[in-house]
Amino acid sequence: MTVKEKNTPQAGSIFQPTIGKIVAAKMLTAKEKYFRVVLEGGKPLGQKPGQFVEISVFGAGEAPISICSSPTQEDSFEMCVRNVGSVTNLMHQMEAGATLGMRGPYGNGFDMEAMKGHDVLFVAGGLGLAPARGVIKYVLDKRRDYGDVTILYGARNPSELLFKEDLSEWEARPDCAFHITVDRPDDAWKGNKGVITTLFRHVKVDPSKTYAVIIGPPVMYKYAILEALSMGIPESRILCSLERRMKCGVGKCGHCQIGNVYVCKEGPVFSYAQIKRLREGI
Ligand SMILES: Cc1cc2nc3c(=O)[nH]c(=O)nc-3n(C[C@H](O)[C@H](O)[C@H](O)COP(=O)(O)OP(=O)(O)OC[C@H]3O[C@@H](n4cnc5c(N)ncnc54)[C@H](O)[C@@H]3O)c2cc1C
Ligand code: FES
Repeated sequence: MTVKEKNTPQAGSIFQPTIGKIVAAKMLTAKEKYFRVVLEGGKPLGQKPGQFVEISVFGAGEAPISICSSPTQEDSFEMCVRNVGSVTNLMHQMEAGATLGMRGPYGNGFDMEAMKGHDVLFVAGGLGLAPARGVIKYVLDKRRDYGDVTILYGARNPSELLFKEDLSEWEARPDCAFHITVDRPDDAWKGNKGVITTLFRHVKVDPSKTYAVIIGPPVMYKYAILEALSMGIPESRILCSLERRMKCGVGKCGHCQIGNVYVCKEGPVFSYAQIKRLREGI
């Protein structure tokens, strides 16, 4: 392998970020901004659904960000970034035409082969829709490979709903069931009101052939896991993506460590059976 080949995004050079050009950017909510990025030379990112990238804003630092597009979209990749601090704030100032650095893709991602032939129940809360979207889009693009698809999505209020165009598309699709809720509705809201677990009463699954994919803040996935367990879905088929503080993304710095597990390398996707062993106390 030549040095040049080693530095392709698929090889994941940890010392030299690949340059990416933002080709589309727009605010999705007051706090979250969407980006579509094309890599130098038009290379595909080659990610698995559920993986993340380390994005660098030169001179400021790096931040791990989930890839929210499907690998079936090869010409570019997408991200949804919440403005919380130094790197994400500078990203929010970027528009189409700007360049950034990218390392990765990193993390294990979801085992889409193992999920083939099974029904999939997606449960996404808040910004958890960003990583979930890449997996949902993959499954919908490969629709014949999977059984029944159910999508549950919850946000705190209607103004925080992400990817509204996708939500309308999923709602209209005859080949998937889509349910949405907000904790605090406004006057115009006609849908379900309450936390995401209130949506489970609309859902019937065959636990013998269902995977649950649960992504959201800890307070949400804790209760969503309990719902999935009460449906009879086995612990090994309840999959969560854990968000820990990360720096290097490649198992070198220890920032993401739980016991002897590096979440950036062995995760961020874990089954509930594995999470229990991590003794994170969720
Ligand atoms: C695997 C993974 C995937 C992620 N995917 C996304 C995504 O798709 N979109 C997105 O907007 N964010 C995502 N995050 C969170 C994102 O990495 C942090 O918000 C970002 O690193 C903050 O960097 P900053 O320099 O802007 O903030 P800083 O200036 O470093 O910190 C600002 C505030 O954010 C807190 N913070 C810093 N890092 C993290 C972190 N890793 N998790 C939680 N809080 C943090 C700090 O305590 C502080 O309160 C992901 C994190 C991980 C580990
Ligand atoms: S982020 Fe450095 S070891 Fe995981």
